[in-house]
Amino acid sequence: MRSVLVEGPRRMSLVERPMPDPAPGEVRVRVRYAGICGSDLHIFHGQHPYVQFPRIIGHEFAGHIDAVGAGVDASLEGQRVAVTPVVSCGTCHSCRTGRPNVCLNLQVVGVHREGGFADYCCVPVECAVPLPDNVDDRAAATVEPFSIAANMLGRTGVLNEDTALVYGAGPIGMTVIQALSGVHGLRQLVVVDRIESRLDWARDSGATLTVNSADRPLSEALQDAGLSPDLIIDAACHPAILEEALDLAAPAGRIGLMGFSPQPSSVPQSKLNRKELTLYASRLNNRKFPEVIDWMAQGLIRPERFVSHSFKAEQVHDAFALLEESPVECCKVLLDFN
Ligand code: NAI
Ligand code: MN
Repeated sequence: MRSVLVEGPRRMSLVERPMPDPAPGEVRVRVRYAGICGSDLHIFHGQHPYVQFPRIIGHEFAGHIDAVGAGVDASLEGQRVAVTPVVSCGTCHSCRTGRPNVCLNLQVVGVHREGGFADYCCVPVECAVPLPDNVDDRAAATVEPFSIAANMLGRTGVLNEDTALVYGAGPIGMTVIQALSGVHGLRQLVVVDRIESRLDWARDSGATLTVNSADRPLSEALQDAGLSPDLIIDAACHPAILEEALDLAAPAGRIGLMGFSPQPSSVPQSKLNRKELTLYASRLNNRKFPEVIDWMAQGLIRPERFVSHSFKAEQVHDAFALLEESPVECCKVLLDFN
């Protein structure tokens, strides 16, 4: 089978590998489309803390089940599925208390185990989530990035009355913006970025006010608009943002953090307690695939606007080059394994 194999930093190639057989409890997925994530670029550059080489990468993908392992219902063969990359042990404290996405023994598909940039990928049957006919193959490959937004917003909760502020209109910010607008119907949705073309997408996806912080301070723009955010999501993920968010948040505000920077943020406790703010962290997704698939089936979000490019699997180097050289032109870039 064709596989995108990263053998070490900056050593990536499309190679032939033997087709894997599903282990007991697993299914084999014939991959149709797979999305390229910023973390795939980090793995490619050897900047990912957890990856072990050589690795078939890819954790955002969908296709159909073409074989099942021992103990798995054979009638699943042929079922179209989106694959969640979260493989958890089921027995640790996190798993037993309903938080398998932060399993003590977490294995992420495409990071700790072979991923979906290949014709076939084997995963535990629980990771292969069925798709209805009205969610097409390209949309299906974007369930994973939208599940990042679903998890973050599931953590913070979203109230009808919320004025929301989203930092960053990159791919992850866009999933949050689409969910806040399409699913939650927020009337006040402010998006800040420094790149005008990304702010154009944000408006197209439901932002009611966009602020280019390269042009004017965000605090000034919010003051002029008379807005004070109740819900702030940091999808730009610079450690300095938390400090600013504490100042901008309304009393009783909730702040969702998505970044993995090792750099500290400077957070005086008085700023949290004076307004009784709440901070939420979010990692991957906690069984959010059915919810996101339902959003798609109901037409609440627009995955077709989220996908900006698609390349044949053979053009994987061109796809990575585009993302590296012209990130401003890209939102989600798909690989087609048809
Ligand atoms: P990206 O780099 O494409 O987008 C980030 C956007 O933020 C860019 O448009 C950039 O111009 C903007 N930005 C940067 N600094 C800013 C600032 N100070 N103020 C306003 N805008 C600013 O990245 P992508 O793919 O959208 O991912 C965003 C982050 O989400 C990454 O840091 C990634 O690690 C994190 N992430 C977290 C996950 C989780 O489960 N918690 C899962 C996936 C991604
Ligand atoms: Mn991803």
